[in-house]
Amino acid sequence: MVTKQENQVLDALLARRSIPRVHSNRPPRDSIEQIIEAAGHAPNHHHTHPWRFIVLAGTAREELGEVMAESLRVRLQQSGQTATEADLAKERAKPLRAPVVIVVAAVPDTGPKAIEIEEVVATAAAVENMLLAAQSLGLGAMWRTGRPAYDPVVKRFLELPEQAHIVSFLYVGYPDLPDLPPRASGALSHTRWRGWTEG
Ligand SMILES: Cc1cc2nc3c(=O)[nH]c(=O)nc-3n(C[C@H](O)[C@H](O)[C@H](O)COP(=O)(O)O)c2cc1C
Repeated sequence: MVTKQENQVLDALLARRSIPRVHSNRPPRDSIEQIIEAAGHAPNHHHTHPWRFIVLAGTAREELGEVMAESLRVRLQQSGQTATEADLAKERAKPLRAPVVIVVAAVPDTGPKAIEIEEVVATAAAVENMLLAAQSLGLGAMWRTGRPAYDPVVKRFLELPEQAHIVSFLYVGYPDLPDLPPRASGALSHTRWRGWTEG
């Protein structure tokens, strides 16, 4: 029997933490490819491969920032507010928080067997694989979304079809933080056991 002490998979899962602050130097392409390869090993009903990955680096992040700032400007305008230059500058700078931003989107399969929510959750499982893969490579990653993830203008900029769901803006880089302690999940307190008898 594998004991907890020697279970590297469980160790990695229990130690996983999001890394909100990373250095500006870009990890090698090989590492990004390994992270994306890991994503494709997520479970996926009917093997529809609903996930799409768009790797943004360098000026592509600035372009996303411009689109996100415009998205914010329009959103505020629609609610009768005016974005200040400071609001827009903050929004514009967001994708620059990491040297690589991987947009992970689900494009639901249109075949008769596919169920949309399953396509989205399979893509979410792919993102978790990516977080774990990044950590195993000594990289830090953070799953982010925010309102731009749901803006059709952002999808168009990313050349995603209208029916796509942006599941994550995955920020990746070398950690610029001391190691974060594992956190207690509390998942057992959200668990009910039925028909489980001991002995
Ligand atoms: C679908 C999804 C979207 C998220 N979006 C954001 C976000 O936009 N900004 C943010 O600070 N955290 C966001 N988070 C939460 C972080 O990724 C992270 O999980 C959380 O801060 C807990 O940290 P931990 O992963 O180290 O436990 C999101 C998580 C998920 C699953």
